[in-house]
Amino acid sequence: MPKYIVATVEEIPVGQRKLVEVAGRSIGVFNVNGEFFALRNSCPHQGGSLCEGRLSGFLTASAPGQYTYTRRGEMLRCPWHGWEFDVKTGQSWWDPARMRVRSYQVSVETVTPDTLTPAGEGLQKGPYVAETYAVTVEQPYVVVEI
Ligand code: FES
Repeated sequence: MPKYIVATVEEIPVGQRKLVEVAGRSIGVFNVNGEFFALRNSCPHQGGSLCEGRLSGFLTASAPGQYTYTRRGEMLRCPWHGWEFDVKTGQSWWDPARMRVRSYQVSVETVTPDTLTPAGEGLQKGPYVAETYAVTVEQPYVVVEI
């Protein structure tokens, strides 16, 4: 599967996201406590811009007045009608057996950009080659596989 550089690690701080266009798809890339996850930015309900939704967690109660808030920032709520999905898996929480949003493999890699396809390109190599220069990049990138 092709890999696409979508950001430097510094571009997506913990608890934040970045919306990117990769190979004709709108994708949200999330940093959840230092781990990166990517979801298709299209809600399976009616196509809302899911990745622009609010992040939250789970609130459970063992007894009246005794609440526990867990998995902070791991649940994504669609801004259109409120369907919720797990950012880490794309799984829904109202019908987890049947409903999920497409998720993509994400990695953090220190690479030379010419080994990956920049996001939004999808072009084929032509027969002509321009003069090039060696470039060294020494920072980690967030890379999405599609
Ligand atoms: S379009 Fe997302 S909940 Fe309806």
